[in-house]
Amino acid sequence: MQYRILGRTNLKVSLVSLGSGGPSHLGQKTGLTEIESRKFVRYALDQGINLIDTAAAYRESEVILGRALEEVPRDQYYIATKSRPSYEGIFLTKYELQAQVEKSLQRLRVDEIDLFQFHGIRKSEYEYTVEYLLPVADQLKKEGKIRFIGITERFSDDGTHQMLQKALADDHFDTIMVGYNLLSQSATKTIFPLCQANNVGVLVMIAVRRALSCPERLENVIADLKKRDIISSTALPDQNPLDWLIDNQTNSIPAAAYKFAAQPNAVSTVITGTSNCQHLVNNISAVVGPPLPEEKIKKLRQIFGHISEGLGD
Ligand SMILES: NC(=O)c1ccc[n+]([C@@H]2O[C@H](COP(=O)([O-])OP(=O)(O)OC[C@H]3O[C@@H](n4cnc5c(N)ncnc54)[C@H](OP(=O)(O)O)[C@@H]3O)[C@@H](O)[C@H]2O)c1
Repeated sequence: MQYRILGRTNLKVSLVSLGSGGPSHLGQKTGLTEIESRKFVRYALDQGINLIDTAAAYRESEVILGRALEEVPRDQYYIATKSRPSYEGIFLTKYELQAQVEKSLQRLRVDEIDLFQFHGIRKSEYEYTVEYLLPVADQLKKEGKIRFIGITERFSDDGTHQMLQKALADDHFDTIMVGYNLLSQSATKTIFPLCQANNVGVLVMIAVRRALSCPERLENVIADLKKRDIISSTALPDQNPLDWLIDNQTNSIPAAAYKFAAQPNAVSTVITGTSNCQHLVNNISAVVGPPLPEEKIKKLRQIFGHISEGLGD
């Protein structure tokens, strides 16, 4: 495993971290039993992963993590969790947020959350979050229940990262979580330079998701981009459009996609949302192995670099 510093938190985090949401939810959506999910979490730590991302909203993920990590010394992992600022259009009160964080602490069976994040914030939710909910998180930080505070975006609705641009300009947060992948590269221009300038830690999500792990889905995404004239109809073949990324150092599209996501210096960690041991090992080998060749990165930038929508699902 390789490790990078998570911005101003100074935490030394594994370049590949484990996500407990997305299409797998630690196996809750893919048919693992709870025992298997817990074993998978321990397996991830054995591979050198020391950062795990979760959320109150990820079904039983916090509970499973709490049980899986109970016997693990607390200095061997960092836990990042999150709360949404609103449910069904109604904002949380300060007391509700405080209660949510207390519940996360109980479910995770820890005294302190290493990184508390405001979850999937829309631009329209940003002002309320900063004005009313951030002071609650700051207070919990003073009380020793939260170490650092971050914010994550709602990538599918905010492909140009409007909310994160505002958050970074205001400089309220220790970390951000951003959607970045080889189809949606706009964070390179609008987000990463600000993070580097202000020493904000960057967690990358949706590096692979469904579009880059399911060949049929990828073909559909490429066909749609061609149909809408977003990429040229001759830019890529209709079938297996990204297979030219595969060579003797990159054995699959997911491998190429995780390598791509880990490549910018601004990125502290790439979250992998797998719950499959073999995939996990492959993903780590991809990221810590040789990077994609420069000419392939250049070609990806030529084809997809101008896209300003959140693709990947
Ligand atoms: N707004 C937010 O705050 C937000 C939004 C989205 C995600 N997140 C966080 O970011 C994490 C990562 O996002 P993500 O779940 O989209 O993760 P991802 O790693 O981009 O995609 C995970 C998907 O890719 C598949 N996959 C992974 N490696 C593979 C491989 N080697 N071969 C084939 N398929 C592979 C997984 O299936 P298998 O399980 O079969 O491997 C899963 O379906 C989430 O778990 C969550 O913690 C946060």
